[in-house]
Order: sequence, then structure tokens, then C-alpha cells
Amino acid sequence: MPFNFAQIFQDDLITSMVRKTAYGLATTCVLGAAAYAGYCVAAPEKHQLRHYRHPELNDQIEKVLDSLKITDDQLEQIMHLLEEEMNAGLSPLTHHQAIVKMFPTYVRNIPNGTEIGQVLALDLGGTNFRVLLIDLRGNSRIELTSKIFLIPQSVMIGDGKRLFRHLAECLHEFMQKERILNTGVCYPIGFTFSFPCQQEGLASARLTAWTKGFDCSGVVNEDVVKLLQDAIDEKRINAKCVALINDTVGTLMACAYKDPSTAIGLILGTGTNACYIENLDKVGTWKGDYNEPKQVIINMEWGAFGDNGRLNLIRTKYDEEVDLSSMNPGKQIFEKMISGMYMGEIVRLIILDLLQQELLFLGHRDTYGDYKTPLYNRGGFYTKFVSTVEIDEGIQFSNTRRVLEDIGIRNPTYDDCAIVRHICRQVSKRAAKLAAAGLAVLINRIGKSNITVGVDGSLYRYHPRFKHNMERCMETLINKSIQFKLTLSDDGSGKGAAMVACLADDSLCKKSVVHNETTRD
Ligand code: BGC
Repeated sequence: MPFNFAQIFQDDLITSMVRKTAYGLATTCVLGAAAYAGYCVAAPEKHQLRHYRHPELNDQIEKVLDSLKITDDQLEQIMHLLEEEMNAGLSPLTHHQAIVKMFPTYVRNIPNGTEIGQVLALDLGGTNFRVLLIDLRGNSRIELTSKIFLIPQSVMIGDGKRLFRHLAECLHEFMQKERILNTGVCYPIGFTFSFPCQQEGLASARLTAWTKGFDCSGVVNEDVVKLLQDAIDEKRINAKCVALINDTVGTLMACAYKDPSTAIGLILGTGTNACYIENLDKVGTWKGDYNEPKQVIINMEWGAFGDNGRLNLIRTKYDEEVDLSSMNPGKQIFEKMISGMYMGEIVRLIILDLLQQELLFLGHRDTYGDYKTPLYNRGGFYTKFVSTVEIDEGIQFSNTRRVLEDIGIRNPTYDDCAIVRHICRQVSKRAAKLAAAGLAVLINRIGKSNITVGVDGSLYRYHPRFKHNMERCMETLINKSIQFKLTLSDDGSGKGAAMVACLADDSLCKKSVVHNETTRD
């Protein structure tokens, strides 16, 4: 029968402290003990579970969490495997079977801040769809107005035509509000479509698979730009889609607009993926011209890394469960170990496992059997809870308590809170290490002395330690001669699409500016 954590904590610390104080003995010792207790709970993980709890329980919890640990050797092995997969994706001989697709994007020019134009951008990659009107004013100045529309779940998994009609309706509403509908000007659209696409040109892209909970019929293998344009034309909207980009590309572009050493775009949000600037001579699958600049941005689609079993060396039973209960089992294995869509669920499954092994929430036998609570339901532990829990630093655990109460654990003990925080830290640290290993492969491969990575996504933005954990890990994996920097990209999905659209159709942009200036006067 396992020991009760709460009991141990009370007996060992609180009760003894109170007793000692009551007897008026060794006040300084008590203060010292309290300070040490505070230090231990707030100190790095290895202290937390070791000093307080019964060693047998600690060891059992650690054993469960050990499966999440990735050693330096394993990281190097993962880097090696990823590089092999990348080369397979880039070679015409192996591209067809390759798992990491390494799609050439046809985006070859990087903006330099002097671009001028008024452009529409559409951004679809999750449950929100954004429409933006962007004014690129030269001198790195950008102004924009935007509106967010919700994509109902029924549309996310319904008929593809309905999805694109919905997008066109949102665009219509937005243009009407901005008074740019039926003005006689055809506005260029940059479409950020954050799903894997085989591009055949800047404005031609076939969806290869849905990810992140989307599953609209009749879209896979179809040209997404055409589907969008048909819906726009059906509504007689004065706009033309001139470019489709992935959100990673938008992120890279928006960052390069301000910092010319940017060579990589990374998304750590609902999904994960990276793109980078590759020399044309390394892109065997390239079908375009070889004019200057002899480079192209490659959309890696690294989320699919591991779909052929090559990450099995580090996958846990929780990863397998998350995968099996997802909408795309067997797909996006790397993404499922890293991104926001799945992180909360991994934590929930570990909590449930510890609970079933009687290692957690021992004082809550009466409440934890309620199967209707979020704790027992898929998706019940949101990824934003992982960030909230990890914001707690000391022994108060005010955030952790709130989160635990939200998922149905009333009055959690210090131990419960400390263990849950420990789980969150291990899960998010593993994700940060994996993303760091992926970036290290790219940075070492690009090999320039100074490289900036433009990053965006809710996980990176809101998690209190993700960036720090990634940087620490990257320092150990990247060649010492290279200086790297992670920079938060400012609305890349919107601005980046506008920049690509502007670079793609310079004449259209200029026309829209001239028109806009004349109508304003
Ligand atoms: C998609 C990528 C996208 C990433 C981040 C993945 O699920 O396949 O195209 O860049 O999510 O949004």
C-alpha cells in the first residue's frame, strides 16, 4: 500500500514545525527548515521530488516520467535521422516515398523593407480564419487592419466547397466594411494556408493531407488556390489570389523584413513546422528556373518526421495513445510530441496514469472518481494549462491549484501541485528539446556565421520557459562557430503573405496604392 504524500508532508514538515514552535524550541532551526523547504520546492526538479516525499513514491513517479527524458546521445541520433529524411525529401529519386517532404515553395526573394503596396492577406491554419488589409509603406513600415472569423467545427470537417465558400463570405464581409468592395481595383491576395502542400508555382498548390483537426472532403490532391479563387469569383469579389504560402514562410518573411540574417521560419503553435532558405543546387526536386537568386525557401513539413517509425526510440505509451485517438493516426508523429494541439493531452494521460497507480491525488479518493470531470475526458487538460502551471515558481502554487480545480480536483495538496508541475515541466521540456534538435540540424546545415530564426505560435509566445529551454539545448547541439538568435516574428502569417503577394505581383500592388491614394484625396 503506497504512502500518502499529503500525510508525509504534514507529518514531516508542518506538524513538526508547529510542534517545535509551540514548545518554543529552536526557533532559528524552524526558520531555517522553512527556508530550506521553500528552496527545495522552488528549486530545479531534481530537488523537488527527492527531499520531501517518500523515496519509494518518488522513485515510482520518476520511473513513469523517465520515459519522457531524452539523452544527449538520443538527440544526436534524432538529428542524424532528420537530416537523412531531409535529403530523401529533396532528392527526386526518393521524394515520392519520403516522409519529410521538403516542399520547394517558389518563394525565392526575401523582402528588404522597401516594398510598397496595398494587399489582402488571408490566414487559415486553425479554428480561426483572419482577413487582413495590409499597407506596405516602404522603409519597413506596415499598417494593417484585420478581422478574425471563427471556422465552425462542422465546416472544419465538412465539404471542402463549403469551407472555401465560407472563406469567401468572410472576405466579402471584411471588404465591405473596409469599403474596398467593387471599387474597380482587383486586390492581390496572399493566402497563408498552413497545411502541407505540394506547390507547382507561387499560386498553385495541391494539399497533400489535412492536419490539426481539419478533414474537409474533396480538397486533398486539389489545387487550393483554384478552390479559393472559384469561391471568390462566385461571389464576384474584386480580388485575385496571387500567392499561397505556409505560415512558416510568412514567419520567415516577416522577420527577414526587419533582420536580413533571418534564414529560418519556425511555428510552435497548434501544429509545428519549419522552413529555411536552401541553395538550389541542393534541391533535386526543383522544377523552376535557375536565375538569381539561386535559392528557394523549403517548407519542410517536419511534423511528419517519425511517421515511418524512426522516432520509436523515444515514443512513450502516452504518445501512442494521443496518436491513436487523433483524427490522423500514424501521421504527424513529431508534431504530436511537440505542438500545442497535443501537449495538454499528453499531460492529462500521465496524470491519469499516476492516479491509477495511486501515486497522485491520494487525498481525493472521494472526488477523483467522477468520470464527468475534464480530467477524465479527452482534451480536458488544455495546453494553455501547461503554461499556467509552469508560471508557478514557489510553493504557493496558486495557478496550479486553479488549474487542478478546473479539471475537477478540489483542494489539491502541495504534493499534488508539485507533481503536476513536474509533469508539465518534463513534457514541455521534451518538446523544446525536440524542436531544438530540428533547428540545430538546419542551423548547422546552413552554416552561416550568423543566423536568425523567426518564430511564431502560441506555444512559443505564451509558455514561460519554452524559448529558454530550446536555447539551452541548442547551445549544446549547434557548431560553436555559429551565432544564432530566436526572434519572435510579428504577425508573420498576415504580413508575410502580404509581402510575398507584393513581390509576386508588383504591378498589381502599385495599382492598388495609386488607386487608394486617389480615392482618399
Ligand atoms: C502543418 C504545417 C504548418 C504547421 C504549423 C502543421 O500541422 O502541416 O503546414 O506549418 O502545422 O501551423
